[in-house]
Amino acid sequence: MIQKLSAWFEERMGWKPIWTALALRNIPKVNWLYTLGSATLLVTVNQILTGILLTIYYVPSPQDAYNSVAFITNEITAGWLIRGLHHWGASAMVVLAGLHMLRVVFHGAYKFPREITWFTGLGLLAVTMAFGFTGYLLPWDQKAYWATTVGTRMLEVTPVIGDWLLRIARGGEELSAVTLTRFYGTHVWVLPSVLLLLLGIHLFLVVRVGISAPPTPKETDEKPKVWFE
Ligand code: HEM
Repeated sequence: MIQKLSAWFEERMGWKPIWTALALRNIPKVNWLYTLGSATLLVTVNQILTGILLTIYYVPSPQDAYNSVAFITNEITAGWLIRGLHHWGASAMVVLAGLHMLRVVFHGAYKFPREITWFTGLGLLAVTMAFGFTGYLLPWDQKAYWATTVGTRMLEVTPVIGDWLLRIARGGEELSAVTLTRFYGTHVWVLPSVLLLLLGIHLFLVVRVGISAPPTPKETDEKPKVWFE
């Protein structure tokens, strides 16, 4: 039955090469450190799903933001769980992406032919941190307000364009309703779009180029030169 169904779809969609490339590709003998990219991916999916659910009740205005977050946490069925998963997932994503990057550095996996995977990875790390920065303001409590006041104030010390950057980030001289909607729009539309684009290229290349094998000592007769011999 399953075989028949599979053949029916294959005749109409020709999906076998895609399945073969994704699920049946050869990979070198690797270790647990190579699961850090997939762990980051899992947390990313968690952030997208729980983030979408949070937007159903969250209201991005200074009058309602704090109360809407309190409502999600205290009143809605499993609201505390969804918010908790999103809150802790944000930190986990930063830590896992950082560890994944360290693995890539220590294994030299950023070298030819994986430079584009590396650069899209750098973009993903920047996007991950921008998610954290913009998301922190959204509960609109004292901690969020003052952390963003300090965070945006840092932009002001940029030479020449500092004033301009501060006004772009805050949407004016001070933090206001404009800042909140600006951060919200960036958090739920701009950053996810950039993330999906970069992630698409990143994962395409992981499949297309293949995962690098763990580095081994060079197979050569020449002994390394040491100063004490
Ligand atoms: C949202 C963040 C990210 C996700 C979801 C992600 C996902 C993945 C996955 C699933 C793999 C294949 C498995 C593995 O090697 O662990 C991978 C490989 C790779 N990633 Fe990432 N990654 C992210 C961020 C980064 C960052 C920050 C860098 C470095 C700046 C990076 C550079 C690479 C490179 C060079 C490879 C190829 C590794 C190899 O062939 O051995 N990635 N990524």
